[in-house]
Amino acid sequence: MPIRETPRAWQAPAETAIMASHCACGVCRGAESERSLDSSQQNHWKKSAAEAAAKLVEDGMIVGLGTGSTATFFVNALAKRVAHEHLRIAGIPTSSKTAALARSLKIPLSTFAAHTRIDLTVDGADEVERGTLYLIKGHGGALLREKIVAAASKHMAIVVDETKLVDRLGSLFAVPVETVKFGWQATQEKLHALGANPTRRLGPNKKIFVTDGGNYIMDCAFGPMEKPKEVAHHLDHVVGAVEHGLFLGFAKEVFVGGRDGVKVLKAG
Ligand code: 5RP
Repeated sequence: MPIRETPRAWQAPAETAIMASHCACGVCRGAESERSLDSSQQNHWKKSAAEAAAKLVEDGMIVGLGTGSTATFFVNALAKRVAHEHLRIAGIPTSSKTAALARSLKIPLSTFAAHTRIDLTVDGADEVERGTLYLIKGHGGALLREKIVAAASKHMAIVVDETKLVDRLGSLFAVPVETVKFGWQATQEKLHALGANPTRRLGPNKKIFVTDGGNYIMDCAFGPMEKPKEVAHHLDHVVGAVEHGLFLGFAKEVFVGGRDGVKVLKAG
């Protein structure tokens, strides 16, 4: 983990823009690799993984509802089960977007005021490291709520298509770091000193992206990480950074949709 001094002449880099539903910051290669893949095929893989994971839900469960396009397929599949099988469940959404979707599909919702423990959470991810099942999350901008929900969950299942599998985290995507607005420039310098090359995220409208919690996101391009635990440890101690998108040790299983159907990877 390179800890460098901030060069005196260092200037905050230009903000990064999010295009479509995925990260297009200058450092994320995910968007580019996705463009070269037939998006309808990729959506089919995401949907297959999400529908397989929806079978994990049992009557009476409190269910964490993830955010993003793959999690949306899960929420749709869950709504069908609730309607057809009369499942009595309550969902805890990880974003205002997912809450609105779940309400529109008549999935009953609950809050942490009623339940501090969640039986099962199903969420997407931007990268999944083979073997460890460590994740990068947050390119949909919901990482803080997603991590709070994940940390309160007895079981976390991840749903992805096979393009998300990597040997080293950081190979395709930057690590998003949710940062409070107050003093964000100082926080950005601290992230830069960690070798993160942080850029403040823009939304699709080119305006500064603001999370559901009212914070900014700094996309931190560490590149492929040999020791993601060390990186996470450093990010945990950056004052002004509320949370980061390294989810290490949360995923119990990963449903991967791809050319050969859906495979389930289990944490060791
Ligand atoms: C949102 C997330 C998403 O789960 C992640 O970005 C994956 O999104 P998608 O399923 O659209 O590829 O972490 O904050």
